[in-house]
Amino acid sequence: MQMVLEAGVTGDRIIFAHPCKPLSHLQYAQQHQINISTVDTEFELFKLKQHFPNSDDAKICGWPLGKKFGCEAQTDTAALILLARSLQLKIAGTSFHVGCECEDLEAFVRALSTARELYDVGKMLGYDMNFVDIGGGYHGGNNEFFKKIAKTISSSLDLYFGNEPIKCISEPGRYFVEAAFTLVCKITGKREMRNALGQLESIMYFINDGKYGSFIDTGRDFSNVMYFSENHLEQQKYKTTIWGPTCDSTDKIVDNLYLPRLHRGDLLAFPNMGAYTLCLASKFNGIPLPKVVYYQQQN
Ligand SMILES: Cc1ncc(COP(=O)(O)O)c(C=O)c1O
Repeated sequence: MQMVLEAGVTGDRIIFAHPCKPLSHLQYAQQHQINISTVDTEFELFKLKQHFPNSDDAKICGWPLGKKFGCEAQTDTAALILLARSLQLKIAGTSFHVGCECEDLEAFVRALSTARELYDVGKMLGYDMNFVDIGGGYHGGNNEFFKKIAKTISSSLDLYFGNEPIKCISEPGRYFVEAAFTLVCKITGKREMRNALGQLESIMYFINDGKYGSFIDTGRDFSNVMYFSENHLEQQKYKTTIWGPTCDSTDKIVDNLYLPRLHRGDLLAFPNMGAYTLCLASKFNGIPLPKVVYYQQQN
């Protein structure tokens, strides 16, 4: 909130989208007229009632982000809307987040269908719930898939909200930043594994960033890794494991790549490393965080 305010955005354009809010954060929101937040349990509604009763709106969060957030749309949400009414809190609309890097197009359809059901419940109870927040969860490095998601969302909005006067907003995170950064690492050491005949079978590389640093977020696609060497490289590729720099034996980045035989000092570049990397990284074992360098591509 502080960063966005400092960037010149006024409180009425900020949504405090964390469903579980520490009191000090709620107070900060109140001081800066950040009046819209999300709610997914009765406890949060009571908290709002007690500590921020004049908040303009609460958005009922109707879709689970894993098992941690959200409420069961068909059962809990109607009860929450009723409770909000009895506490005389306002409700602006619904909010969902289908989960990070969602590959299930139907998840957006189901979520928007649910949003419509809640919109009707709200209307029945006298609320003008015209805010539909479609959350985040979009890939940042796969434009073709993003186009499919956009198409699905557009047609679902038409289907479920047609000409209703809704205001639809989104909360993209990864989408904005993932493709903007490439992580360049140096090979600091290696181990070559040979069979009984002495033939090279697979190679391990140790590099200067790892699981405790920029690679903390799991499930990345490493098939697009690039390599740079000042040495002549053979055509042949070997099964490759890449380890991070710490002394922890679980600090493994990937172990099913096929790369040519590289050398100490060569560089590996991992594209699409702009999301959930540096902001999660630690300096465990005294390993410094990578330096951020900005460059402008020349056409
Ligand atoms: C409430 C909320 N909205 C949006 C996002 C962004 O999600 P993504 O990066 O999957 O688009 C997050 C991520 O932490 C979040 O907590």
